[in-house]
Amino acid sequence: MKKGNFNINRINRNIKNVENKFNKIDEWLIPRDRFSFYLTHDFHPYFAAYPPELVSRILNKYSNVGDVFLDPFMGGGSSIVEGFRLKRKTIGIDISPLSKFISEVKTKPFIIDEKKIRKLLLKIREDIFKHNLDNYKNFDYPTPNVTNISKWFKKNVRFELSIILYHINKIKNITFKKFLLLAFSSIIRKVSNAKNAQQHLCIKKDKKIPQVYSLFEEKVKLMSNQMKEYVTKLGSISNYTLPKLYVYDIRKMTNIIEPNSVDIIITSPPYGTGSRYTDVHRLNFEWLNLKKPNKKETLETTSDFKLELKKGIEEMYKVLKKGKYCFIVYGDPSTEDSITKEVIKDALNVGFKYEGLISCPIEKTISNHHEKYRRFIPKDFILIFKKSN
Ligand SMILES: C[S@@+](CC[C@H](N)C(=O)[O-])C[C@H]1O[C@@H](n2cnc3c(N)ncnc32)[C@H](O)[C@@H]1O
Repeated sequence: MKKGNFNINRINRNIKNVENKFNKIDEWLIPRDRFSFYLTHDFHPYFAAYPPELVSRILNKYSNVGDVFLDPFMGGGSSIVEGFRLKRKTIGIDISPLSKFISEVKTKPFIIDEKKIRKLLLKIREDIFKHNLDNYKNFDYPTPNVTNISKWFKKNVRFELSIILYHINKIKNITFKKFLLLAFSSIIRKVSNAKNAQQHLCIKKDKKIPQVYSLFEEKVKLMSNQMKEYVTKLGSISNYTLPKLYVYDIRKMTNIIEPNSVDIIITSPPYGTGSRYTDVHRLNFEWLNLKKPNKKETLETTSDFKLELKKGIEEMYKVLKKGKYCFIVYGDPSTEDSITKEVIKDALNVGFKYEGLISCPIEKTISNHHEKYRRFIPKDFILIFKKSN
């Protein structure tokens, strides 16, 4: 078999080697299906999001209520919601404004006003109906600048999305507006001509595109119920401050986070495969008119990924208090050049003590994967580091 081709035996051998060599101390089976993304976790997909339970298990075992918890690669915000829910003083950082936006809406408790939502949905439905009747002859709503828009969206989809966006943008209450914008963003990929899976954009031939308005309405109703449940579960949150979220480069993190101020770090860095989170979510960025981070800022596209990641690990070391833990979650790829090994080496170099790893099997059937799918990762490793006293 050629190097790089999918080979489950080689991957399993590689995993066993890593587990033997780097002190496996435990194995956690963590569900990853859609139902494991409970409460607001299901609001919006994010490429390579880790399951919420992975974060809550670590937080419960290795930290206390009131501790300062940091995720400097917060992505879709799984850790931010869990940190807030478990009453940690939570800080999230990511280079992507989309990441901050998703994390903020998922975390901020918001009282759902069903009457207001029904009224708005009705207005949007009527407007779409009216424009449909005259075949969009008098359509003059703005449509954002989406690169090659006619390749990625059918004409009626573009119109309907623009109508929904127009009505959302008129809303004055910022929290309500952001809640609906996130619902809007979450349906973009499904109504596009691209494959639904959160990976690189590519056209799916003969895709059956769902009806835009119905999908939006369904999503808003689902999110409303999830938000209601979230608010109920939180109970009285008046004693706890909302997470602090930043769009920032981890390599300069000490500009915004005090050294020796964080009790626990849990994070999953990019892999350095060159696949940009920004590209995967490009349609969302453009429809929401969010500024994309440039290629020099996103670690996964830097020319010397390992060096840049090490700078990030160094910053993590600086902000952590002495005697406290840092958890770095990585799935080891099928290549011999193990990223786990690299991260452990770098972390030791910047001063961390390495304590061991927890293996988390990823339950997925192999038949879902193409023969050449190189980045099949059947286990995540939670690497445990400590800053000495
Ligand atoms: C593996 S994802 C994190 C996923 C996250 N754990 C979740 O549950 O969604 C890695 C994240 O690193 C972010 N990132 C890339 N370069 C960065 C940088 N220089 N500083 C901070 N974040 C960066 C990406 O935008 C991406 O969201």
